[in-house]
Amino acid sequence: MDIFQKCFDYDRPEKVKAMGLYPYFVPLQGHVGAEMEIAGHGLIMLGSNNYLGLTDNPYVMEKSREAITKYGTGCTGSRFLNGTLDIHLELEDRLTKFLQKEACLTFSTGFQANLGTIATLGLRGDILYLDRKNHASIIDGARLGYAKVVKYKHNDMDHLRHILEKHPGESGMIITDGVFSMEGDLADINGLADLAEEFGVRLLVDDAHGVGAMGPTGMGTAEHQGCHDRVDMTVGTFSKSFACIGGFAAGSASVISYLRHNARTNIFSASLPPAAVATVIAALDIIEKEPELLVRVHRAAERCRNGLSSMGFDIGQSEAPIIPVFVGDDLDCFRVWKDMFDNGVFTNPVVSPAVEPGGAILRTSFMASHTDDMIDRALEVFEKVGRRHNLIGG
Ligand SMILES: Cc1ncc(COP(=O)(O)O)c(C=O)c1O
Repeated sequence: MDIFQKCFDYDRPEKVKAMGLYPYFVPLQGHVGAEMEIAGHGLIMLGSNNYLGLTDNPYVMEKSREAITKYGTGCTGSRFLNGTLDIHLELEDRLTKFLQKEACLTFSTGFQANLGTIATLGLRGDILYLDRKNHASIIDGARLGYAKVVKYKHNDMDHLRHILEKHPGESGMIITDGVFSMEGDLADINGLADLAEEFGVRLLVDDAHGVGAMGPTGMGTAEHQGCHDRVDMTVGTFSKSFACIGGFAAGSASVISYLRHNARTNIFSASLPPAAVATVIAALDIIEKEPELLVRVHRAAERCRNGLSSMGFDIGQSEAPIIPVFVGDDLDCFRVWKDMFDNGVFTNPVVSPAVEPGGAILRTSFMASHTDDMIDRALEVFEKVGRRHNLIGG
């Protein structure tokens, strides 16, 4: 048997393309903004994680260009040996202060931050308690480290307690997304922290969609829930509110020092390029100076949430600037996505395995730069398309 046979047999994308419904790898032309040119026509962008709208902010872009002029295009080595610039240290210092932690370590993606942090901390003999809806990078990090992995029902504190009771005195860590990335609902971080305290285990929150988007100052989901100081470790990304790429882990000085010297995704992978580091520092400048951006992104999401729910769409329990529109069947989801696209609104169709089979959603996400008028125009399209595909009545 040929190891490539699975690839030769894999025809699902071709089948969806033949139906004219293939929704992936759509080339965007130009800056990722609230409205943009895609495949030759103008669309309202409800499919980006650019929550604060900073990807084309003139100050951020200028800082990024200045870094290329000063440091060149790349570091060509890992942080550990030859890829640490003074601005990597500056960024880690800034993030440490911003997140009110003792220390911070940057990685080249958020995925690597989760892989490196979780696989390095969760070893044979440890137990990792994972929410069933956690992001793929958490699941893969847990697999890599040889710790025992136990999953609890989504955000279900009673179920988690039941599991923890079976492992008294064992070293472990509860790991959750802060904002669940597909459906925009939030972890019950106070509930998790209570259980962590009671059972003597640690709590790690992957707040990829929360840092820079949640909480009065943008510290994240735990700040939003008034319990920032109850989280042992925060992992995050620069690929969303920070308008770039990269990731970080923040926590106590000893844990971060251990990761710095042991996390394989950091030690054996090249460091963040200068333009990316400078972009994130500049984005932090703006987040600290302009907290009203956080108010604006939530206002845009709230306007859309109110509109969609008053039309009768099933939109779940989202509290973040991410709103899912439940469709169900994968192909139906692609059909709705295409109709939205053809009518000028870009959304993300999310099917299994990113969601449960039969639980396909159109994922919408919002930016501080979305105006009321853009949201209202998108809602008009939702109403028309929703009726056509029987997602709402009438
Ligand atoms: C919850 C969560 N964690 C981690 C990641 C990975 O982040 P990055 O894009 O920086 O690799 C993502 C991005 O999709 C995410 O949604």
